[in-house]
This record gives sequence, structure tokens and C-alpha cells, in this order.
Amino acid sequence: MEQRAFGMTGLSVSVLGLGAGQVGAESLSEETAGTLLNRALDRGITLVDTARGYGLSEERIGRHLAHRRNDFILSSKGGYGIEGTEDWTPLVIRRGIEHALQRMRVDWIDIFHLHSCPLDVLRKEDLLGALDDAREAGYVRVTAYSGENEALAWAVHSGRFGSVETSVNLADQWSRHHVLPSASERGLGVIAKRPIANAAWQFTHRPVGEYAETYWERLQTMNLDVVRQQAGLDWADLALRFSAYAPGVHSVIVGTANIENLERNIRLVEDGPLPLDVLTWIEAAWAQHGQEWQGEV
Ligand SMILES: NC(=O)c1ccc[n+]([C@@H]2O[C@H](COP(=O)([O-])OP(=O)(O)OC[C@H]3O[C@@H](n4cnc5c(N)ncnc54)[C@H](OP(=O)(O)O)[C@@H]3O)[C@@H](O)[C@H]2O)c1
Repeated sequence: MEQRAFGMTGLSVSVLGLGAGQVGAESLSEETAGTLLNRALDRGITLVDTARGYGLSEERIGRHLAHRRNDFILSSKGGYGIEGTEDWTPLVIRRGIEHALQRMRVDWIDIFHLHSCPLDVLRKEDLLGALDDAREAGYVRVTAYSGENEALAWAVHSGRFGSVETSVNLADQWSRHHVLPSASERGLGVIAKRPIANAAWQFTHRPVGEYAETYWERLQTMNLDVVRQQAGLDWADLALRFSAYAPGVHSVIVGTANIENLERNIRLVEDGPLPLDVLTWIEAAWAQHGQEWQGEV
């Protein structure tokens, strides 16, 4: 598995990371969660991404991966959800990090993101100061922002963060065009979330009210199916190799609770970037249809 320097943070991350949102589902057995998390590391994945809000995810990372702490870069997110503490305050940052360290049974979190807060919250000096304090105390190595659009652009230009996490996929290219070039120039690490567009192609009909609905509609509009078939690629192949090799992206955290999909994704990234003619076609489809499409949180 290719490992990449994570901007100028001093960390290295695998090109394919594990989005551990799905690992937090109560419907997933403890045994499968443990097997999946360990399989990811056994196969060379060195970035695991979780959050306060991902159900059992942080707890399960603690139960199944804490003993392998030096084998992976741990990314989490917070700013909310601590009982008795107001969201988006310095106190919730401090307590949130303490709770996360306990839940995950670790001494430090490599990358800690403010999780999708809006721009007015993001600019609060006391909140940013609490993040700096956590880094200086050694609880966090890189302070980061996860989000989209104007808030993300502000985060990249602020000089206050070492890395960002943002949506980058076939159907979500706002960050790729508007923010990733500046992030690269400034040496920020970049994690691509929702990197296979929530596998929206799997729905034969519009998935009304589902997470993937916006991407389903965008993929229909971009009409990528013809070029995909001509190139002899299946959807996961097209989607994953697009985001994994997008300029400025260091790691793509495909979310999965399915060990077969995990193994498949590991094989797919090994095939390298998409052929140039396919990329040119995607670029043209985005230029024609995607200019007004904002990043999806
Ligand atoms: N910061 C934020 O606000 C934020 C927001 C969204 C996501 N995230 C992070 O990004 C990660 C990934 O995002 P995401 O899960 O929303 O989107 P995604 O990675 O684009 O898509 C995940 C979906 O794709 C399916 N899948 C995975 N591999 C596949 C394959 N080879 N073929 C077909 N389907 C496949 C998964 O189902 P199976 O489980 O069946 O494999 C899951 O339904 C999350 O786990 C989380 O860590 C962060």
C-alpha cells in the first residue's frame, strides 16, 4: 500500500484510509467490527478516521486497535456531544478530547478535527485556542477542520490548521477546484471523505431522502456511464481511482462495514490513476454541469 507524506505535518498516511463511520453501527457485530479494523491494518492501511458522532466507532477502535497504537494514524473529530457541556466551546473541546482518549484507550490522537462547524463558529478565537492547547499538551498532534465550501476555504487560509478533511469524489469537486491547490501550496494534509460518492450508482431509482441522493442525481446528470463502460471499468474502480489520485489528496477514507469491499478497495487503488482519456472526459462533464455544485458536508 502506497504511503504518502501528509502535507508538512510530519505524518505519513496510506493512500487508502478506513472511514470508520460504518464500523460504529450497532447492527454490525462486535466480531465483524474487530475483524474489519484489524484487517485494514494488516493490509497496510495506516489511517483510520472516526468521530464523536459515529455511534460505537470510537469505542470499537479502543477495544480492537488500541493494542496496535503505533501501527496507524488515528483521526477523530469533535466539538459537540458531551453531556452537560455546551457545544462549540473551549470546554467541549477539552472534555471531548479527554473522553475520546478514554473511549479509544489511547494517549494521543494524531489528527483532531472540528467537525463541520459553520464559519462563524470556526472563527472563534477561544475555540481555536483550546485546540492549540490540546496540541501543545501532546493530546493531539495535528489540529484540523472537516467541512466544505466557504468555511473550508477560510480554514485553509487561516494558518490555524495542519490539515483538512473534505468531500472529493466524481460528483463533488468543489474543494478539488477551489481549495486543494491552496492547501497543497501551504503544506496542509488533505483527507478525502465520501471518496466513492457514497456508492450512489448502486441505486437503480432515485434514493429519496437517503444520504446518497444528491450524488445520485449529480452522477445521472454527468452521464459518466458511457465512458465508464467504454473504458471497461466498474463504478467502484472509476470512483475510487479518481479520488485517490486527485491532485492534492493524500488519503481517501472509503467507509465500509464489509470486509469484501475493503479487500476490493485495497486492490483497486493499486491500479493507479485512471487513464488520461477517462480523466479528460470526467473533467469535461464537471465543466459542463458541476460549476455551481457546492461541496456536500
Ligand atoms: N467529516 C464529515 O462530516 C464526514 C462526512 C461523511 C463522511 N465522513 C468520513 O468519510 C468516510 C467515508 O464517507 P462515506 O461513508 O459517507 O462515503 P463513501 O466512502 O464514499 O461511501 C461509502 C459507501 O460505499 C460502500 N462501499 C465501499 N466500498 C465499496 C465497493 N468497493 N463497492 C461498492 N460499494 C462500496 C459502503 O458500503 P459497505 O459498508 O457495504 O461497504 C458505503 O455504503 C466515513 O466513514 C467517515 O469516516 C466524514
